[in-house]
Amino acid sequence: MRRAMAEAEVGDDVLDGDPTVLRLQARVAQLLGKHSALYFPTGTMANQAALWLLGEPGTEVYCHDDSHIVNWELAGTAALVGLQVRLVRGSPVMDADALRAAFRPHSVHAPRASLVCAENTHNGAGGMVTSLDRLRAIQATAAEAGLPLHLDGARLWNASVATGTPLADFAACASTVMVSFSKGLGAPVGACLVGDEVPMRRAWEVRKRFGGGMRQSGILAAAALHGLDHHLPRMHEDHRRARMLAAAVVNVPGVSVVAPDTNIVMLDLLAGQQASQVVAKAREAGVWVSAWTNTRVRAVLHLDVDDAGVARAGAVLAEALA
Ligand SMILES: Cc1ncc(COP(=O)(O)O)c(C=O)c1O
Repeated sequence: MRRAMAEAEVGDDVLDGDPTVLRLQARVAQLLGKHSALYFPTGTMANQAALWLLGEPGTEVYCHDDSHIVNWELAGTAALVGLQVRLVRGSPVMDADALRAAFRPHSVHAPRASLVCAENTHNGAGGMVTSLDRLRAIQATAAEAGLPLHLDGARLWNASVATGTPLADFAACASTVMVSFSKGLGAPVGACLVGDEVPMRRAWEVRKRFGGGMRQSGILAAAALHGLDHHLPRMHEDHRRARMLAAAVVNVPGVSVVAPDTNIVMLDLLAGQQASQVVAKAREAGVWVSAWTNTRVRAVLHLDVDDAGVARAGAVLAEALA
């Protein structure tokens, strides 16, 4: 990947286009079956740009209560876009019934909504996949209310690999989709916002306004292209190793393991233990996991962890948890 970056053909993407960025955008738009794609420095910026493109200031966006947009984007919805979040609760990932239950009855005193956001895979739910049927039902429910859908697909690659569902089938449910290159694909930074013709018309403008215009960004886009060529075909390995890790700790008393759909393993501590203590103990033994909440530990499998590494991580974690 470093070599591909060093050898990338570059131009000026703020001025008149960078050839490697253009190649990446065309490839991703084609993979997702959408009109066009625009390269962003981060997934967060691309999500916020989508909210700006599809949402209307002074209205509501329906989001799952444990979504990245709600918990980890520093209230950009409010600060950058002027949207109020209406939380969709009641299931580990959004579904059509939970979305419908969150709809407000019409009233001149109540805020209108302007869009719905879904996340696939769902980080907070442990990399859980929203199946194509479920996503179609969400889209149909949103459409009944006249609302477009934005899909935070930072890990849509994982959802597609785990289910065999083509990326384009997932993407067809949404007006805009964000996909990230800096997670399972292993690039240092970067994401694309991919979408239908109408919302994408102003995507370049909002990226520039948010400070996301980059010049010789082909150096970064080359990393993303390398990830698509070399790391997407091996992503199923991360899912297999996540199952290995889950199996290594599933019988530890006082721990409930969320069975992994993809590359994330969530461990819920039932016996009063603090996640920060488990994280510290594992780290002393050279295994890095994080505290998702006070009682939930998150472990992520990725291309730098091989079979021997996951076996060692499983043994260390089992001891730290016990
Ligand atoms: C589901 C989800 N969406 C968006 C992002 C943001 O991506 P970035 O770190 O590139 O801003 C992340 C990052 O972890 C994520 O997990």
